[in-house]
Amino acid sequence: MDKVIDFINVNRERYLEELKAFLAIPSISALPQHAGDVKHCADWCADEMRRIGMQNVKLVETPGNPVVYGDWLGAPGAPTILFYGHYDVQPVDPLELWESPPFEATIRDGEIYARGSADDKGQVFMHFKAIEAHLKQNGTLPVNMKIILEGEEEVGSVNLDNFIREHKSELGADVVVISDSPMFARGVPSICYGLRGLVYFQIDLRGSNTDLHSGSFGGAVVNPAFALSQILAQMKDRGGRIKIPGFYDDVVALQEEERQAWAALPYNEKQYKKDFGIPKVFGETGYTTLERTWARPTFEVNGLLSGFTGEGAKTVLPAVAMAKVSMRLVPNQTPDKIAELFEAHLRDVTPKTVELKITRMHGGKPWMTSYDNPYVQAAGRAIERGFGRKPVFTREGGSIPVVSTFQEELGLPSVLFGVGLPDENAHAPNEKLDVANFHGGIISSAMLYEEIARR
Ligand code: BES
Ligand code: MN
Ligand code: MN
Repeated sequence: MDKVIDFINVNRERYLEELKAFLAIPSISALPQHAGDVKHCADWCADEMRRIGMQNVKLVETPGNPVVYGDWLGAPGAPTILFYGHYDVQPVDPLELWESPPFEATIRDGEIYARGSADDKGQVFMHFKAIEAHLKQNGTLPVNMKIILEGEEEVGSVNLDNFIREHKSELGADVVVISDSPMFARGVPSICYGLRGLVYFQIDLRGSNTDLHSGSFGGAVVNPAFALSQILAQMKDRGGRIKIPGFYDDVVALQEEERQAWAALPYNEKQYKKDFGIPKVFGETGYTTLERTWARPTFEVNGLLSGFTGEGAKTVLPAVAMAKVSMRLVPNQTPDKIAELFEAHLRDVTPKTVELKITRMHGGKPWMTSYDNPYVQAAGRAIERGFGRKPVFTREGGSIPVVSTFQEELGLPSVLFGVGLPDENAHAPNEKLDVANFHGGIISSAMLYEEIARR
């Protein structure tokens, strides 16, 4: 193992240069004009996987973006890791808020700034380099390894469940490893044992067949912007509780043990408010901020559009109003059931004066494992060796839809070991990854394979 760690330490600078090349590819899955870049990025990953010594590397076509597959199965009798990550990234708008161009990775104050640095290319690359170090130094890995990289995670993984079902026999493994989440805080490495699920909708209201003069028609014809506001206002009460009938029926209550463990984490609400410019925190009565984001479901308005929003004033009664809304789910809620309850409630509270169109978009199930799972414990030891400190156990408010699919379709547990930071600006301008965490992450990943082999 020492030889592997030495190799990683010696190659530190090279890794950064290579990562910059990966980060230079604008693989934005949400935007059709970047389809070529997404494909190019898949090819880049495949080439890199061949360079580090992975075998049987190929692109598997899906109705959307290809899945990159590769394996190394030279350790008969040893456990098999299925590594999952994503090579697609989020759009970069608003571009003017970036301090350096999103696809020209720039290192400032020990952080590497670029779209995808934390979510998820930098964290995928960590594992590439850990694998490379083992194979270059020892000619072997302590475990068998299968890698799948997805190009549609940021748009809801719509083709991945089918891919997994269709390739069940090739994806057999003992455990899934994923690095696509933040650590709890700077200097506090962590393992994530739960994720929220998601269900996403677009709501369109129409009140007339054209925009109308608000003087001639106002007061006699519905205003869809107003109707939409009233509808949205009926989704949550003032205490942050969601008013959709039946919404909480399947929610698993927080365990007292978890509440105590989380209360002991080094979390500072004053700092949290300061970091993100929040005047006063808001959420469901009776829960702390960590509990609200990790263990309670929520309803959010992701976007609103109606009427005149340009400079100056225009007296108009808009014909249409639109909202994008989503709900984060917790065990044991399911996107299908929550979608039904939401649609029924939405129809119920929508006045007859407007035409309602509901479009269901992507989603995913929540996921949770127990942290005494032996693989989670193995990851804990690896992280301690890589970061010199025992990890804390966290849940996260974000979603990685495929994690529950791995459990349900392949019967596989997942270990989520991430090295991003809460202020990494994922999905926002100036996304960044801490260079020291990246380095510690490579060492921890190399150790993780060994720890998993040992048990
Ligand atoms: N890496 C995130 C998931 C994540 C975020 C995990 C924060 C833990 C903490 C992932 O790339 C992501 O953004 N997921 C989407 C999923 C959606 C598009 C179905 C999300 O959570 O919004
Ligand atoms: Mn991600
Ligand atoms: Mn993301």
